[in-house]
Amino acid sequence: MSVRRAIHDLETSRIADIVALGFGDPDVIALWYGEGDVPTPGFIGEVAAAAMRAGETFYTYKAGLPELRHALADYLSGLYTRPVAMERIVVTSAGIGALMLMAQALIDPGDNLVIVAPIWPNIAAVVSIMGGEPRLVSLDPVPGGGWRLDIDKLIPACDGRTKGIFVNSPANPTGWTASADEIAALTDFARRRGVWIVADEVYHRIVYGDRVAPSFLAPGEPEDRLIVVNSFSKSWAMTGWRLGWMVIPPDLLPTIEKLIEFNTSGSPTFLQRAGIAAIREGEPFVQSFVARCRDAREAAIGALQSCRRVEVAKPDGAFYAFLRVDGVSDSLAFAKELLAKTKVGLAPGSAFGPMGEGYLRLCFAREPAAIAAAVERLRPMLA
Ligand SMILES: Cc1ncc(COP(=O)(O)O)c(C=O)c1O
Repeated sequence: MSVRRAIHDLETSRIADIVALGFGDPDVIALWYGEGDVPTPGFIGEVAAAAMRAGETFYTYKAGLPELRHALADYLSGLYTRPVAMERIVVTSAGIGALMLMAQALIDPGDNLVIVAPIWPNIAAVVSIMGGEPRLVSLDPVPGGGWRLDIDKLIPACDGRTKGIFVNSPANPTGWTASADEIAALTDFARRRGVWIVADEVYHRIVYGDRVAPSFLAPGEPEDRLIVVNSFSKSWAMTGWRLGWMVIPPDLLPTIEKLIEFNTSGSPTFLQRAGIAAIREGEPFVQSFVARCRDAREAAIGALQSCRRVEVAKPDGAFYAFLRVDGVSDSLAFAKELLAKTKVGLAPGSAFGPMGEGYLRLCFAREPAAIAAAVERLRPMLA
């Protein structure tokens, strides 16, 4: 079949390789995907159902319902120190939809995006789809576990074809969370180089030391070349809804609206109504979900650290333990072996770039007892 080379060459996700082996097996504890086990809060679903029954089923605004954009502007302006205008906000088909729009808007064939890694593989994929080069620059592993950013490593990674720098904080899979100082330094660096910052902040609320993670929206001026991607998926337990948003410079709005026309022609109205409810009334849910993740993090990291071959640190954000296992040089093969022998499904570290080899990712957004049970099953293979 004759398809574009860039699409033909896309690798299928190594996470999917593991899922394919265990999906649907009732005995498997599946910790391979980045989502929790709690369904969307009922009050959010009720709003969507009511809007649908009320006939909100027509074509709509490309950039999103003004009411939802207003709600998001209020929400972000309340979270951070500086206001975010509604004109900068575009509703998207979840985080991945926003990332694809970003790549379509910015990446010409031959351009590159410098990506702080290890990183969720779909980010490299959207760049590759456009014929660009995802250029992964590794965080530095800290002895004993954890990761640190060395901004100086980004300088030699950028060249004349660099369109921007991609930073996911809090990060999937490492949990690394950029400090306000690091964000200010990255913003400064991007301004001096005249490149974009693309900030993926889908885990902005899944943090354990504060109410929200430091954001690129804080130092960012509206006219900066800054795109901040966010989503309802993680903080409001809405992974299946495919609803998200991006914050962009006002000048980019016509371009993004043009692209939305040809991608989705806008997000479904009844889902957006539910998004307004999530944003305006979802705070207690977000806080209880994060509290549960915090307990599960304690259970996961405590149990994993007691396994002799494991090196892992408590992540500051997101809901993953990214563990290095001594003696593992093929994490995909090891994840397959773990699934076969223990019936626990983990994501292989190599899915997140070559610097992830030797690691495994465990999603702990579960009942803490379920996480403890999973680690007990894994223990004989990790001890
Ligand atoms: C870093 C990161 N960005 C974006 C997404 C996209 O999430 P969604 O498309 O469900 O909003 C994910 C999902 O796992 C993620 O981990």
